[in-house]
Amino acid sequence: MKTTRQLLLLAASGLASAAPGALLKRTDYDVCAADCTLAGLPYPDKDTFQLPLENHYSEQCPTFYVGSDAGNPTATGRVCLEFIGPYLVFNFTSISGFTYNDATVSWKLTGSASSFSDLSCGPNPNGDGLTCKLPFTSVLKVSPTTSNKDLLAGICPLGDREALVFDLRFSGDVTSTSSGEVLPLRQQFPCASRDSDPKCTSYQTSYDYFQLTYRCSKCYVAACPTSTSTSEPPVTTTEPPTTSTQPPTSTTSSTSTSTTAPPILQTCSFGTAFGYQNPIAGVQKSFTLNTQSGAGCNRWGWYETPTVSELQGGISGPLYVGAGGNDITKAVYVGIWVATANAQGRVTVTYLLNPPYTLADVHVNLVCLPLTKCAPGQYTFNAGAIPNLPTFSNPTPLVYPTCTGGSKAALVVHAAVNVVKVGTCEPPKAS
Ligand SMILES: *[C@@H]1O[C@H](CO)[C@@H](O)[C@H](O)[C@H]1NC(C)=O
Repeated sequence: MKTTRQLLLLAASGLASAAPGALLKRTDYDVCAADCTLAGLPYPDKDTFQLPLENHYSEQCPTFYVGSDAGNPTATGRVCLEFIGPYLVFNFTSISGFTYNDATVSWKLTGSASSFSDLSCGPNPNGDGLTCKLPFTSVLKVSPTTSNKDLLAGICPLGDREALVFDLRFSGDVTSTSSGEVLPLRQQFPCASRDSDPKCTSYQTSYDYFQLTYRCSKCYVAACPTSTSTSEPPVTTTEPPTTSTQPPTSTTSSTSTSTTAPPILQTCSFGTAFGYQNPIAGVQKSFTLNTQSGAGCNRWGWYETPTVSELQGGISGPLYVGAGGNDITKAVYVGIWVATANAQGRVTVTYLLNPPYTLADVHVNLVCLPLTKCAPGQYTFNAGAIPNLPTFSNPTPLVYPTCTGGSKAALVVHAAVNVVKVGTCEPPKAS
């Protein structure tokens, strides 16, 4: 995925260009400080933001202009950013001589196929401007009940280093306190060059958005006092099992000094993953696709046959890549899947990948047996061009099918998985 590679290259180049002070700055982030179970896991630097289109210039308060001419604005203002709780917060600070009528932040993840989403800003309870909060659950398109641990894994998908990149626009209206005139506001163009001040001296006027990114650090909260759990991966709980499992091989253990160039991260296609459910009390829970005679079913992979009430309790299992011949001993364990049903029996499947693995496509099939087709593109739910996210859930719960004649409902959990690594890509595992 070209856009993702660009994203990572831009982010990596920022390591070299940003001021050292900005990179060393570490502040207390409430979510991390409040939870000992997050010790050692990456969390976003609370107030260190960078502008990828401006060679990763560090800026906590990007600017906007008031009026219709960015080059000759009636006034300028700033939007100060901060991570507070599981939110990215935008504070439109007061502008002298003007009052705010309304302001909107439009955002999307860089490289994402989706269009911009709007966030309306309201009065800031502790300030004299406007404020709005972008929930991590919206950024990651996951359920509102996702744990902070999983949210942080998604917000810091590469660990304690560069993280996600946003495309952003600001819009709104202000009223002049002297003349009563109403004027629009919008984000300033990305800066093309700065003087030593460092005041911007020319702008990249072809952009109708700017880009913003941040870095992640390890959460230095003290570890929890007792560690009694032996982390047996749960199979039937609604709580997703621990996601702190180390990836099988560590490819990014570079000990670079401040003078070496940052390693270039590549996004490589890793292969096809299928969800497996471990046997429960000796009872088989996954069945091989090749027992089905439908089109494309003569391949490796599995389906499960959960009842609605089993789904309401929550089921989960490992995600395996490359289990040719359904041989799990040959497979790579890349993460887990969790399927739950709500009170109405509607089903949500959540994927949680371990670093350095990320999602490219997700396909979920929930149909009555026998399976008439096994090609993932023809499943009940398909999401493509997922921008390398480590977590994903189908945004609208799926209908559990009503099956007749003693047929059971089958669930197939499938994904196309990328690996983010240093160096050249290897051929993907056999799909
Ligand atoms: C933004 O506003 C919130 C709510 O008033 C406040 O807690 C926070 O400190 C502000 N952050 C910045 C960077 O202005």
